[in-house]
Amino acid sequence: MLYISFVFLATPILHGWNTTGITAAGASDGSGGTAPNLFSQPYGIALGSFDSLYIADFSNNRIQKWLINASNGTTVAGLSNGTAGASSIALNLPASVVLDSNDNMYFTDRDNHRVVYWANGASSGTTIAGITGTSGSTNNTFFGPCGIARDSSTGTIYIADTFNHRIMQYLVNASSGTVVAGGNGAGPGTTQLAYPYGLTFDSSSNSLLIANAQTNNIVRWVLGASSWTLVIGSPTGLSGNTSTLLNQPIGITLDPMGNIYVADSGNHRIQFFFAGQFNGITIAGVTGSPGISQSQLFSPYWVIVDNQLNLYVSDTFNNRVQFFSHYLT
Ligand SMILES: *[C@@H]1O[C@H](CO)[C@@H](O)[C@H](O)[C@H]1NC(C)=O
Ligand SMILES: *[C@@H]1O[C@H](CO)[C@@H](O)[C@H](O)[C@H]1NC(C)=O
Ligand SMILES: *[C@@H]1O[C@H](CO)[C@@H](O)[C@H](O)[C@H]1NC(C)=O
Ligand SMILES: *[C@@H]1O[C@H](CO)[C@@H](O)[C@H](O)[C@H]1NC(C)=O
Ligand SMILES: *[C@@H]1O[C@H](CO)[C@@H](O)[C@H](O)[C@H]1NC(C)=O
Ligand SMILES: *[C@@H]1O[C@H](CO)[C@@H](O)[C@H](O)[C@H]1NC(C)=O
Ligand SMILES: *[C@@H]1O[C@H](CO)[C@@H](O)[C@H](O)[C@H]1NC(C)=O
Repeated sequence: MLYISFVFLATPILHGWNTTGITAAGASDGSGGTAPNLFSQPYGIALGSFDSLYIADFSNNRIQKWLINASNGTTVAGLSNGTAGASSIALNLPASVVLDSNDNMYFTDRDNHRVVYWANGASSGTTIAGITGTSGSTNNTFFGPCGIARDSSTGTIYIADTFNHRIMQYLVNASSGTVVAGGNGAGPGTTQLAYPYGLTFDSSSNSLLIANAQTNNIVRWVLGASSWTLVIGSPTGLSGNTSTLLNQPIGITLDPMGNIYVADSGNHRIQFFFAGQFNGITIAGVTGSPGISQSQLFSPYWVIVDNQLNLYVSDTFNNRVQFFSHYLT
């Protein structure tokens, strides 16, 4: 049994992630529920100050904050009893969250077709993009927004308008957005996206990295460009379980060296790609083998890394968030 997967960076520094995870939040046995120690399909996650995790507790219609290694979370947005709604206090399937440096939250509220700003410690939020409860494809409406990214230097947010197959850009305080990627129907063409979920803003190249769940690839779309270039996966949208293919990628994270981490949900694994490489390495989960053991995942939707490259993974169908420690020897 292999416990550690080792990979080499450009210089001969040995990097590895322990392939045995630790349940950092939720129940290790996969139990779901609305109690403060449980989740129902955790989705997007973000790291906050003081070793905290903010977790979009999707099917519980709330955002939970967990201090790392605590036994319970607290509800910081939405209703703690899991009831859905469409108001300043109630949510309907929140999918992902980003924080500013003061832990104020910006999150997508998927089935309310909006983006909510919720100040740290506030008891209610404000719709800052979209029209609460109304779907559409105009420049101030969304259809099932899922991913969100933020440029911390300007405050501009980028929203994966998932069911409209496009990415919207909202400048600070803007009442409508601009299509910056896609918007040409779902498909594998280079001007199209197909169910974009996760995305991340890459300030070094002024571009977005976007996970297309339906066309099983990660593409780079430079802001201002009219098409994408392929970063990972099939150019034509094929799915697969080899080291160069993906199957329904959802979450994507970039580390400071430009390496990419993908929540390859349909393959039940987290794939690691060195910057510029098409060949990935499985660093968590077992390809094609969903399960509840500490080395398995079941449809992981999100992955983030902390400043030591430890992984936090939303093990979505197991109702838990898993921690995989990073080694540098
Ligand atoms: C990997 O993590 C598991 C679970 O925490 C731990 O028991 C094990 O000792 C770790 N393995 C190594 C080689 O550190
Ligand atoms: C955590 O939540 C569980 C389930 O609701 C509860 O029984 C327990 O008392 C809580 N523990 C703490 C430390 O709040
Ligand atoms: C959480 O627990 C793990 C395992 O015991 C430990 O390695 C880690 O340092 C802890 N993290 C924090 C932030 O307390
Ligand atoms: C959940 O909490 C809200 C706000 O306190 C309350 O109005 C609602 O009735 C509760 N729902 C259930 C099912 O308990
Ligand atoms: C949004 O669309 C409306 C109607 O088409 C248009 O009048 C307006 O200028 C657009 N706003 C922006 C910021 O593109
Ligand atoms: C955005 O709106 C807030 C509240 O009205 C205001 O304080 C802030 O200065 C505005 N920021 C920009 C960049 O317009
Ligand atoms: C990978 O996919 C191939 C083709 O669909 C399949 O035969 C094989 O069993 C899969 N491998 C794993 C580990 O799931």
